[in-house]
Amino acid sequence: MSRRARIILKVAVWGVALSPLLLLVYRFFTDGLGANPISYATHLLGDTTLRLLLASLAMTPIRLLFGIAWQMSLRRLLGLFAFFYACLHFTVWIAIDHFFAWQQMIADIVKRPYITVGMIALTLLVPLAATSTTGMIKRLGGKNWRRLHRLIYVIGMLGVLHYLWLAKKGVNDPFYYAGVLALLLGVRVWDWARRAVTRRRQRMATTHRLGAIAPSTSPHP
Ligand code: HEM
Repeated sequence: MSRRARIILKVAVWGVALSPLLLLVYRFFTDGLGANPISYATHLLGDTTLRLLLASLAMTPIRLLFGIAWQMSLRRLLGLFAFFYACLHFTVWIAIDHFFAWQQMIADIVKRPYITVGMIALTLLVPLAATSTTGMIKRLGGKNWRRLHRLIYVIGMLGVLHYLWLAKKGVNDPFYYAGVLALLLGVRVWDWARRAVTRRRQRMATTHRLGAIAPSTSPHP
């Protein structure tokens, strides 16, 4: 992909990723947040966090399934936007929903499993965002960095669990997100199994070849 096409793609991702925030700001100034503005903001920001998380998780499965790699450069940007929206979602909860009532918030985190799970997901996102720079990749080393960034799968699962736990009966959206996540994880597991089988076959072929060229120890010719 050319440099120009890559820039256009990144600008498009910035535009799409910022549009929920612009919508929120627009609705705020035009009195369009509905009867419960806090709930509207929390839900919009939570939905956007989960969508961006899943979008960033989808980049590798797309490469594995279709053999294309240009989208891989968007993974970091999508992940950072997911972190940005998770922080906004959390800020609404702290500053507007609870108005900095720390005791009440701690009680909420302990008492409500969906809040506990959301907090764990957000906490796990912090080291990933902090190590997303090229300098940090070099400092950690590619192998350690990749190992750390596998946490994104756990975060995706916690995000979906958070939604499944808080959704009221009859709301199907969390199940759709769970389905997408299962599909993305399924592709990774399929690829892992496929590579394990190939490695095993190669090992067996090497053993077989070495056995065929090794000098026979048998006394009989
Ligand atoms: C990666 C982290 C997180 C993700 C992906 C996430 C995602 C979501 C989603 C998808 C929703 C439902 C939106 C809808 O109904 O349309 C939601 C709602 C909510 N989330 Fe989060 N969230 C995260 C972290 C947090 C944290 C850290 C808190 C607070 C400590 C939090 C508090 C809430 C609350 C209060 C609701 C609304 C619950 C209700 O409807 O009563 N979330 N979140």
